[in-house]
Amino acid sequence: MMGGYKLSDEKKGHVHHGKTTRNILNPGRVLTASGLKSGDTLLDAGSGDGFISFAASQLVGENGIVYALDAYPESVANIKEEAEKEGVNNLETIFADLTDEIPLDDNSVDVCVMANVLHGFVENNEVEEVMKEISRVVKSEGVFAVAEFKKLAGPPGPPLEVKLSPQDVEDILVQYDFEPVSSWEVGQYHYLVKGINQK
Ligand SMILES: C[S@@+](CC[C@H](N)C(=O)[O-])C[C@H]1O[C@@H](n2cnc3c(N)ncnc32)[C@H](O)[C@@H]1O
Repeated sequence: MMGGYKLSDEKKGHVHHGKTTRNILNPGRVLTASGLKSGDTLLDAGSGDGFISFAASQLVGENGIVYALDAYPESVANIKEEAEKEGVNNLETIFADLTDEIPLDDNSVDVCVMANVLHGFVENNEVEEVMKEISRVVKSEGVFAVAEFKKLAGPPGPPLEVKLSPQDVEDILVQYDFEPVSSWEVGQYHYLVKGINQK
């Protein structure tokens, strides 16, 4: 699936970019809260510069696999280059648009992490397309772990009115048959809501 997926011209215009949260979010805390374990398949949905994906590749080990997916070609290319340079062979990049199609099989993912991306889909009214695809690729009883900026005024993150509360995230998850099971503080500016796929 690497490199074979192309975005349609129509979709290219809708992508919301954003800064990496590498300096303010500890990937270990995110992944611990998600319950990721050795041997798992992880999808990092909207992986940005891949700092969560690289941490996950160490956690899942040689029997696991990490898919770093993003719609921003430069980010995907940089992750691919870094993985090759560092000899990380359980990390694959996917250039794809989450609002369109995730080029992975049904029920192929143990844990999907989405960090600092969901608020953009809410803002763009794209939640339904994205959640249907997440639900399709995550196994039954698999995890969808959403990290978002706490709903506090001021930077970092998007404007206050765009930030989501944990309850907002839970309300989205239940609509797509993910049962919210926990909400964690994962950093000074972040929380994580974890849902289990009940499909
Ligand atoms: C704010 S950044 C977060 C990056 C990373 N997860 C982090 O926490 O630093 C949002 C990321 O989502 C990606 N993104 C936005 N819309 C997308 C879409 N429709 N499909 C795939 N990726 C998307 C952007 O290219 C960007 O890398």
